[in-house]
Amino acid sequence: MNISESDFQFITKLVKELSAIALEPGKEYLVESRINPLAQKEGFASIEELVKKLRSEPQNGLRNKVVEVMTTNETSFFRDIHPFETLKNFVLPELIEKREKTRELNIWCGASSSGQEPYSFAMLIKENFPQLDSWKIKYIATDISDEMLKRCRDGIYSQLEINRGLPAAMMVKYFERQGTEWRVKEDLRKMVDFRYTNLSENWPYMPPMDLVMVRNVLIYFDVEMKKQILGKIKKLMRPDGYFFLGAAETTLNLDESFERMNYKQSGCYRLRQG
Ligand SMILES: C[S@@+](CC[C@H](N)C(=O)[O-])C[C@H]1O[C@@H](n2cnc3c(N)ncnc32)[C@H](O)[C@@H]1O
Repeated sequence: MNISESDFQFITKLVKELSAIALEPGKEYLVESRINPLAQKEGFASIEELVKKLRSEPQNGLRNKVVEVMTTNETSFFRDIHPFETLKNFVLPELIEKREKTRELNIWCGASSSGQEPYSFAMLIKENFPQLDSWKIKYIATDISDEMLKRCRDGIYSQLEINRGLPAAMMVKYFERQGTEWRVKEDLRKMVDFRYTNLSENWPYMPPMDLVMVRNVLIYFDVEMKKQILGKIKKLMRPDGYFFLGAAETTLNLDESFERMNYKQSGCYRLRQG
């Protein structure tokens, strides 16, 4: 199946409208390789037929399926490790000290994909900060993909996914075997409130955040959208809160209100003071 120029343009415009994901010219192969299996699954003879349906029935649920397949859900447990070390050694100890009186922490993981990131952080808390058991922790994790949100809530991972970054001791402690797969134990699953949020639209209410992780998703957006999202993150954060971006991402030349912390390769920011 080859994608025509006009079908490519139609798909990229649709995906941008619905998710802000920017697919530049040159990404024809990517679009083709993702839409082709969807076309087959949905019973269309070709990508052309699928696009015809989308053009004739703009409100069809097929649009969301197109967005779903065009999202990149690559993730792993304790991805890039440095942010988690920074959280453990510097950020959480400081926040715990500062919030000692209220004993409340609000945490948001935007773009949680299949859940490895929020569960990694939940395990990090359990392992290293048992005193937080008696705190009021509001931990929200969001994504645009309903399929990914279901995976997050189910918390079921293949052996291959487990092997990507999860230490064996943590697997034994926080997961239970389910056939050939592993399921996050209920008490860890209950720590995280998984919700739908499209970063490119108006966000539903969230409380002021002490900690925000929006990692490895801004890379898919254009400069204007990155600026808008950073602006909204800034408003959502408590003045002394922390923000983590992915290793290949930066606030530089996008929003000067963020100050990069000097914790090696961890993509850790806070709001510039004063
Ligand atoms: C590459 S994954 C990153 C997962 C995780 N944060 C990590 O760093 O491992 C990107 C995620 O962003 C989500 N995403 C893409 N566009 C989005 C949007 N407009 N709003 C919310 N989530 C979006 C995708 O569904 C996908 O799960």
